[in-house]
Amino acid sequence: MDGPAHGFITKCFVFVAIVSYHLCLGDLRYSISEETRRGFAVGKIAQDLGIDMKTLSSRKPRVDFDGSKRYCDINLKTGELVVNERIDREALCGQKQSCVIHFDFFLENPLTLHRVTLEIEDINDNAPKFRNEAIDLEIPESANKGARFSLDEAYDPDFGVNGVQSYALSNNEHFILSLQTAANRGKFPEIVLENELDREKQDRLSLILTAYDGGSPQRTGTVLVNIRVLDANDNVPVFSQTTYEVSLPENVPVETVVLTVSANDADEGPNGEVTYEFSYLSIDSENMFTINQKTGEIKVKGEIDFEESSSYELRIRAKDGAGQATSCTVLINVLDVNDNAPVIIVKSLNTPVHENLPSGSEIGIIYVQDKDSASNGDIRCSIEQRVPFKMVPSVKNHFALVTTAELDREVQAEYNISVTATDGGSPPLYSSKTFQLSVADVNDNAPIFEKQLYSAHVAENNKPGSPVLLVSAKDLDWRQNGTVVYSLLHSNVNGAPVSSFLSVNGDTGVIHAVRSFDYEQLKSFKVLVLARDNGSPPLSSNVTVNVFITDENDNTPQILYPSPDGNSFMTELVPKAAQAGSLVSKVIAVDADSGQNAWLSYHIIKASDPGLFTIGVHSGEIRTQRDLSESDRMKQNFIVSVRDNGQPSLFATCTLYLVISDNLAEVPELKDVSHDESSSKLTFYLIIALVSVSTFFLTFIIIILAVRFCRRRKPRLLFDGAVAIPSAYLPPNYAEVDGLGTLRSAYNYDAYLTTGSRTSDFKFVRSYNEGTLTADLTLKKSAVDDLEGLDAELRESFEV
Ligand SMILES: *[C@@H]1O[C@H](CO)[C@@H](O)[C@H](O)[C@H]1NC(C)=O
Ligand SMILES: *[C@@H]1O[C@H](CO)[C@@H](O)[C@H](O)[C@H]1NC(C)=O
Ligand SMILES: *[C@@H]1O[C@H](CO)[C@@H](O)[C@H](O)[C@H]1NC(C)=O
Repeated sequence: MDGPAHGFITKCFVFVAIVSYHLCLGDLRYSISEETRRGFAVGKIAQDLGIDMKTLSSRKPRVDFDGSKRYCDINLKTGELVVNERIDREALCGQKQSCVIHFDFFLENPLTLHRVTLEIEDINDNAPKFRNEAIDLEIPESANKGARFSLDEAYDPDFGVNGVQSYALSNNEHFILSLQTAANRGKFPEIVLENELDREKQDRLSLILTAYDGGSPQRTGTVLVNIRVLDANDNVPVFSQTTYEVSLPENVPVETVVLTVSANDADEGPNGEVTYEFSYLSIDSENMFTINQKTGEIKVKGEIDFEESSSYELRIRAKDGAGQATSCTVLINVLDVNDNAPVIIVKSLNTPVHENLPSGSEIGIIYVQDKDSASNGDIRCSIEQRVPFKMVPSVKNHFALVTTAELDREVQAEYNISVTATDGGSPPLYSSKTFQLSVADVNDNAPIFEKQLYSAHVAENNKPGSPVLLVSAKDLDWRQNGTVVYSLLHSNVNGAPVSSFLSVNGDTGVIHAVRSFDYEQLKSFKVLVLARDNGSPPLSSNVTVNVFITDENDNTPQILYPSPDGNSFMTELVPKAAQAGSLVSKVIAVDADSGQNAWLSYHIIKASDPGLFTIGVHSGEIRTQRDLSESDRMKQNFIVSVRDNGQPSLFATCTLYLVISDNLAEVPELKDVSHDESSSKLTFYLIIALVSVSTFFLTFIIIILAVRFCRRRKPRLLFDGAVAIPSAYLPPNYAEVDGLGTLRSAYNYDAYLTTGSRTSDFKFVRSYNEGTLTADLTLKKSAVDDLEGLDAELRESFEV
């Protein structure tokens, strides 16, 4: 129910009540507006009780209030109940619907009591009033549209329509007013948010709320509504750039400022206080940078190494006090500085490398690592020494080590290769490395003998096993490839294997004689000695060893004529008329030895008539020394010694019998001598033999001459002897063997002949194969000269 309506009904009711009370109950009821001035007549109470004025005062009317205040009194003159004191309904009754004051009205003579009810009517004496002069509201700016905020209601003590009836709100953009009724509160105003607030635009609003009552005149009360728009941290910090990019040279000192990020937060207070931190960060970056929480300054904390990381990406979070955050990215590009020297790494190396690899072979790979980038990491690589290698650039910073010549271990077996690598920085950095390369052996050298030809001279009659010669070959190769083993090459000497003559020590190259040599059987031979290395396959070479057996004087001269055994009948007949110097006989002797050892000299060591005959020291020719005379004895004999020139010299003797007679028959002693049948027969045979031999020899000479005419180049026989000695006379072992075997052995015999001519009987050894022995004739120089003189003489005489 509305206030004014309620008041009207109450008034009607009061009026009716007064009338009825007056009529029925005798009690008095009056009504009066509050705040009526003092003395205002409430009602004519005397009149209402039917008491006239005269009796009224005698009856001593009295008003008796329960409380201390006497609101009314009796005006005795007028008999009216008048207001005695200010009556405030609001004070008396508050907001009770009816406000009445009860009091008693006493009259004496007779004492009567009347109960008087004074109804106090409300008047609009109060304006609506707010509790405070201002209402302070804090509304977060984030409040949504439609949000309601209740305000204090205004208070108007007046009752009914005089109470607060309505409100009004001053004009504003954000709020409208709404009245609400609550059971416990009655009507109260609310403001409803119609347009959202933004603290950042307007952080305070002042509204005026007016409360209206229903009285007449209407009273109002106002209150200031101060709204503070609370910050709703609705702003996140905003970086000045979403991405920052900086370049930073590597190796900058710690504490270098990289850059400063900054973010703004439009919020206020803690909501706008921005702090910085790294949001996501790799461990690497975490060790590298720090950020100042307050200023956003990023500094270097660790060692920035381009080679470790060429860029960093930092996520930085700016956070306000309420924890709202945004991020930005900081890209840090690290700039390379040439701070790394190249590092030389031998990736592979064929060591040892075999010699005689073809030039240009790749024998190793070298990698040069330079952590710097771009030109700082451009590598040049070279070998400074004069070695047969070079570096050939291959794929990035790899170099092949290539030979520039064929290697030869025998020249250089080991190389120290120094490689220098320089980078392209400014200034450039460089480093070098030395590594060893060894050259492995290949069996490419055959053993080489120190001489091209070896000659050994072995005296005959040597002891078996005695060393003959040392051959030696060198092989430049390594170890077994250079180990030389000596051996004899199989061949035959004189039909016997060479191994039965010589042996060689495989390790030392010492050649030993296996048997005792006999010059008279074998004067020289050659063997091939092989030197072989132990390589696989082995290499070898061979050398010719000429073995010359030197003569020793081991053969005594052998007298062929006269027969050395004295018992044979050998008598020369010397004509009586023989003049001085006539050749009467000749001692013929041979010596199987050669040279000096065979150089025979003849001496008469005992003669029956010394001085009658002489003997040619070298020719063995016996000649008369003077003319014979009758006085000389008929029978002469003497002993001739034949001596060789060896050391010591050997000799043989024979006895020569001469008969000085013109007729054999005159010699009586001869008969004595030849009375023996057999001996005369022997002489006979001997003569026949001599004749036939001479014939044979002449024939032989003719044949030889014929042969010589036909083949001028044919070798010459070295004698012109009138006396030929058949081969049967030669000692059986006296046959020189010539390995070539191109001539019959007979042709090859040396002639140890004496002849009746003036020519020497000296024997001369000359092989038909002139090359075989010329180089190593063992005769002493003088002897050789002699011999050559003789030789020339012989040829001369022969060719004439
Ligand atoms: C290589 O160097 C080593 C030591 O470093 C040295 O003993 C050797 O003689 C050197 N070789 C050459 C061929 O220079
Ligand atoms: C000998 O040479 C062969 C190649 O001919 C080679 O394989 C071997 O290793 C060499 N031996 C030595 C000890 O150098
Ligand atoms: C001996 O060496 C020569 C070359 O020096 C060679 O021609 C010959 O075949 C070799 N003889 C043997 C039997 O090895």
